[in-house]
Order: sequence, then structure tokens, then C-alpha cells
Amino acid sequence: MPLEAATLLKGLKKIDYKILRSIEIGMRYGEYVPIESIISYTKLSQERTEFLLDRLHKKGLIRRWIGHFTGYELTVMGYDALALDRLYESKLIVALGEEIGVGKESQVFFAQRPDETTCIIKIHRVGYTSFQQTRKKRRYTSDKRHLSALYASRLSAEEEFKWLQLAHEYGLPTPTPYGINRHIIVMEYFDGLILNDIKKLNDADLFLEDVIHFIKDAWCKAGFVHGDLSQYNIIITSEGELKVIDLPQAIERDAPNARELLERDVHNIVTFFERKCQISPNEQDLLSYILSCED
Ligand SMILES: Nc1ncnc2c1ncn2[C@@H]1O[C@H](COP(=O)(O)OP(=O)(O)OP(=O)(O)O)[C@@H](O)[C@H]1O
Ligand SMILES: [Mg+2]
Repeated sequence: MPLEAATLLKGLKKIDYKILRSIEIGMRYGEYVPIESIISYTKLSQERTEFLLDRLHKKGLIRRWIGHFTGYELTVMGYDALALDRLYESKLIVALGEEIGVGKESQVFFAQRPDETTCIIKIHRVGYTSFQQTRKKRRYTSDKRHLSALYASRLSAEEEFKWLQLAHEYGLPTPTPYGINRHIIVMEYFDGLILNDIKKLNDADLFLEDVIHFIKDAWCKAGFVHGDLSQYNIIITSEGELKVIDLPQAIERDAPNARELLERDVHNIVTFFERKCQISPNEQDLLSYILSCED
């Protein structure tokens, strides 16, 4: 499935992005942005602004709210459009392809880099359902802090990007991060299969070793724990290499719950290999091996 905002980009002009941008900035201060704020940013006439807002509204890029004033907010598609436009403008990508995968909190698409290699974009989509409920409640509370799902998605992308960069610095087998804008990360594409989808895994013991090495290097050298490691976040490439993806929930080794997450990651991996490959690694031994750098 192609990305909806991507088809819209073609019909958008610089001034449309300026309006979207003015709404994005206004949303830092309140849920809905009054037209006066938009005008003071774009310096357009009221009539022209209303015309452009109408168009963006019809395209589904902004939402209109009519209350004691008329206000606007970006839709998810509007936010996508802003981020994608920047990714194109900064030449991080030159084309977009089909969807590869959709997770609980993201959508992943093929994309192309200026040198014509394939990469992916991962669009973070955090907290939509729970956020809608929170927002309903919040409207009646005195809490002034404006919490938005768009902002939460951006934070999640920034978090993942940070860990990808660190992992890359330490040469861990994770996707090379190429760039980020708002809630979208551009990163290396691994041509392969998700570990869980592989029917028969040859050399399972060697792959287990690779995963344990990854956990140990992340913990001992880079100083973090993946925190969501399982057969669903591991790719075996067509060249038979093991790669680890999906890092937004990583945390630093010094965090209070880091050890608990480390144990959980090891447990998930051991359970998978036991069930699928009939090998029985000793979980405690593996943990001691990983933690041996602390002695
Ligand atoms: N670097 C990559 N190379 C190839 N495919 C990838 C890459 N990153 C993600 N994918 C694909 O996109 C899917 C979702 O990615 P990811 O696991 O990072 O997101 P997620 O939303 O956290 O997923 P989930 O909630 O299901 O764990 C993956 O299962 C995989 O199929
Ligand atoms: Mg995943």
C-alpha cells in the first residue's frame, strides 16, 4: 500500500507547507491554532489564508474545530506531509515505495536514496488510541500541558534514532541511520526474513551466538539494552547475516530497570531457540557471560 501523504505531496506548494508549518508551531501552545496566529506567521490576507486552509482541510491534512473560536490542527497525514517534504528537500530520499511492514507503533516503507540504493523509512505512530482517550479527559481538566500524539511519535523516533546512531558507532548489527525528520527515520534496508518467519533455521546455534554477542556488545561496549528483543525484531539477511531492528524502547545500562529488561530479552531469545530449534541453552550461563564485563 502506498503512503497516502506521498501522493498528496505532488499537489502541494510552498505556501501550503508554510500554512502547515504555522499550524505545527501553534500546536505547541494549544490544541487548536486560531486563524490569527496562522496569518501572523504567513503574512497573507485573511481571505487567501481561508482559501488555502479550506483546500488543506479538503485534502485531509488539517482538522478544523469550531468552538468559541475557529481553530486548526494537523492531522497525521498533515504531519507526514511536512516530514516527507523535508526528507525530499534535504535529499535524504528521492522516491518512496510500497509498505514493507506495519507494526503496533509504526509503518515501514521502501524508499530510494540519491545514489539509487534502497533504504526504508520508519514512520513512528505512537499512542493514538490511548491518546484520544487521554485527550477527551484532558479537555475538561485544568492541565495546560498540551500533549499530542504527533509529538509523542516524534519523541519515539528521536529516541530510536539516538540508539541506532550509538549502535552504529559501536559496529553493532543494526540498520545504519541515515537521517530523521520529525517522526520519520530513514535507515538501511536489510533484504531478508524476520527470524520468526523462517520455516527451518539451519545453524541455529550460530545464530543464537550472534544474538548473544549483540546483547553483550550493546550492554558492555555501547552501554544499553535493546529492551524489546525477540524473534520478531531480528532479520536474517539473504547473505545469512543476523541483524537486529526496532530500537525505540532501548535504555541505558545504568537505568533502574535495565537489568530486568536484559533478563527479559535473554529469556525471550532462549525460549524461542528452545521451542523452534530444539537447542537448550542455559539461560543463567548466558546471562553470566553477558554480564562478565562488569566483574
Ligand atoms: N531495516 C529494516 N530492513 C528491512 N525491514 C525492516 C527494517 N526495519 C523494519 N523492517 C520491517 O518493518 C517491520 C516493522 O518494523 P519494526 O519492528 O521496527 O517496527 P514496530 O512497529 O516496532 O514493529 P512491532 O511493533 O511489530 O515490533 C518489521 O517487522 C520488518 O518487516
Ligand atoms: Mg518490531
